[in-house]
Amino acid sequence: MTRQDWIDISDEFTEWVCYANAGMLSRGNLYCFNHAVANLPTDDPVVEIGSFAGLSTNLLAHYLRKHGRCNRLITCDKWMFEGADAGTTVGDSPIPHEEYRDFVRATFIRNVRFFSRDRLPHTVEMLSDQMYEAWREQLEEQDVFGRSVRLGGPISFCYIDGNHSYECAKRDFQNTDEFLVPGGFILFDDSADGSQWEVCRVIEEIKAAGRYEVVARNPNYLFVKK
Ligand SMILES: C[S@@+](CC[C@H](N)C(=O)[O-])C[C@H]1O[C@@H](n2cnc3c(N)ncnc32)[C@H](O)[C@@H]1O
Repeated sequence: MTRQDWIDISDEFTEWVCYANAGMLSRGNLYCFNHAVANLPTDDPVVEIGSFAGLSTNLLAHYLRKHGRCNRLITCDKWMFEGADAGTTVGDSPIPHEEYRDFVRATFIRNVRFFSRDRLPHTVEMLSDQMYEAWREQLEEQDVFGRSVRLGGPISFCYIDGNHSYECAKRDFQNTDEFLVPGGFILFDDSADGSQWEVCRVIEEIKAAGRYEVVARNPNYLFVKK
């Protein structure tokens, strides 16, 4: 028998969201979301990289609501999935990957409009590199809900769950680090010790550099900037 050595703080709301909202959330991330949001050092935006169908977006919004935080939630995704090559179908089904992509994007909008109706995030349809370029330029962008949003400025917390390759996860870290305030948080999905994801290499580098402290391994890594 294996013992669960991480904390699960699922509550009634998170359970109902997880029943209805497809996604890839490790339940241990809830503890990290809660800790980071409860201890946000400033009112600067919370950023999410990789939103898929909105599960983690809705749960980040849940903790911001629960802790009465006014920080804007800004998320990005271009809904371009690894292995979903143009012109191919989903497995041996007749469903083209282009339609699967459009379905997930529409599902994101429906899920987030439903569960985060009182705290709608700004979601920009961009890869994280593009979003950070726009962030640097402090550009005004249209979000997927048809509202405009001015990017730029300091960030208080970033949840990194986009492309999991070493190069992309490292760039997401470096770009986030450029804007993260001291005392700000970064959570990396799929970063647990022993996981096969290349994200783990980035974790080792951050630990070795000594500019961030490990707040939690639950089992994914939550860091705070010194
Ligand atoms: C593991 S899923 C995210 C799961 C989501 N956080 C959840 O709660 O279910 C990864 C997502 O990242 C997106 N993605 C991949 N590369 C990205 C990048 N460079 N920038 C932003 N999003 C990216 C994909 O389109 C996909 O929707």
